[in-house]
Amino acid sequence: MSERILVTGGAGFIGSHLVDALLRKGHSVRIYDNLEPQVHGESQNVPDYFNKEAELIKGDVRDRKRLKKAIYNIDVVFHLAASVGVAQSMYEIARYTESNTMGGATLLDLIANEKNNIKKIVVASSMSVYGEGAYNCDNCGKVYPKIRSLEQFKKNDWEMKCPNCNIDVMPIPTNEDKPLFPTSIYAVSKRDHEEMFLIIGRAYQIPTVALRFFNVYGPRQALSNPYTGVAAIFSSRIINNNPPIIFEDGNQARDFIHVSDIVQACILAMEKSEGDYQVFNIGTGRKLSVFDIANVLMDKLFFKGESRVVNRFREGDIRHCYADISLAQEVLGYKPKIKFEDGIIDLVNWVKLQHAEDKVNSAIDILDKKGLTK
Ligand code: NAD
Ligand code: UD1
Repeated sequence: MSERILVTGGAGFIGSHLVDALLRKGHSVRIYDNLEPQVHGESQNVPDYFNKEAELIKGDVRDRKRLKKAIYNIDVVFHLAASVGVAQSMYEIARYTESNTMGGATLLDLIANEKNNIKKIVVASSMSVYGEGAYNCDNCGKVYPKIRSLEQFKKNDWEMKCPNCNIDVMPIPTNEDKPLFPTSIYAVSKRDHEEMFLIIGRAYQIPTVALRFFNVYGPRQALSNPYTGVAAIFSSRIINNNPPIIFEDGNQARDFIHVSDIVQACILAMEKSEGDYQVFNIGTGRKLSVFDIANVLMDKLFFKGESRVVNRFREGDIRHCYADISLAQEVLGYKPKIKFEDGIIDLVNWVKLQHAEDKVNSAIDILDKKGLTK
């Protein structure tokens, strides 16, 4: 059945791929996006990949009057609009909270108080809501360490310790039952997103699903945004002939998921009522280190030098987290299709055709000046 779908943040990286897929499936799509300068450039032009079959309403999710127009006659809402930089959220505290928490609240306030036909909501959450992932301690079994100490950083000792017996612990897949302990303002705002959307969805009986995306990579990442994800930042550094800058020792691990698998999960969440009112991890179940990412990108983009390991901690970061995806597999029938080795080629082929401004040094300078790198 053809639905009328609103995608907030639909001009961005993930949103634009979702919009393309929804249009291919015969839905009609409206995008609500403020074309944020940090993502789309100071001129705030519609990106070249923008799908002309979609309708665009340019506006901020905090602008209630404008957003009201966007929900008119809509059946399904995907809420993706957000400011996304973990490190930047540690000093642009009000902006992140306003854009993410208040932006989400404004949308929900409209849904609760204005006449509408919305019958399904999917909200983009994030693995960052967990803070650290789950770990195994040889003495104590499964543990959930929270944060590392300053003394530890001073000794360049990066690994997590058991909260009970203090020995080094090993990361294991994180499932949805892990208690949430966000370590950045961004992560708090994503926890707000999922909790607020699920609460209002339940109260008004609008089936709502929150998807905890892990680290997404692929074409259309905002290469000139120094606060975007690490794969895009490293790509931008390399095509400008600069070495990737690696925080900590480079062995910190994440679960890197190709954007097409995120799109697959979004569509399953929309179509399958079995997932209603639940939260799902959307990753691949495989962990890769930041080093792995730097090395593969330097190799595929023919970079002649070496990455620069700075042995410093960036406030807001966690050490390791990768997904246990069994719940999404069982309930939604989700199955990641793109192996990292293939997906990264897709990113690289796109990157080779791009120009990017490398603003990473000035972004790190700001963090240094504010004492946000240790
Ligand atoms: P992106 O920056 O490429 O896209 C976000 C889009 O939202 C942009 O087009 C931007 O202009 C728009 N936007 C930002 N603030 C807005 C506002 N106040 N009003 C209206 N529009 C606004 O980011 P992305 O990577 O595509 O992220 C999309 C969503 O997925 C976000 O909610 C993010 O938190 C979530 N997420 C992303 C990742 C990832 O690794 N990229 C992982 C987990 C969760
Ligand atoms: C990323 C996303 C976040 C999303 C989360 C879900 C961005 C900016 N962040 O956060 O929106 O919710 O995934 O999994 O898209 N690093 C370097 N050098 C750099 C940049 C980063 O070493 O130049 C390191 C960081 O210190 C960190 C790791 O790479 O250890 C990952 O950082 P980042 O890409 O910012 O991702 P997350 O914090 O995991």
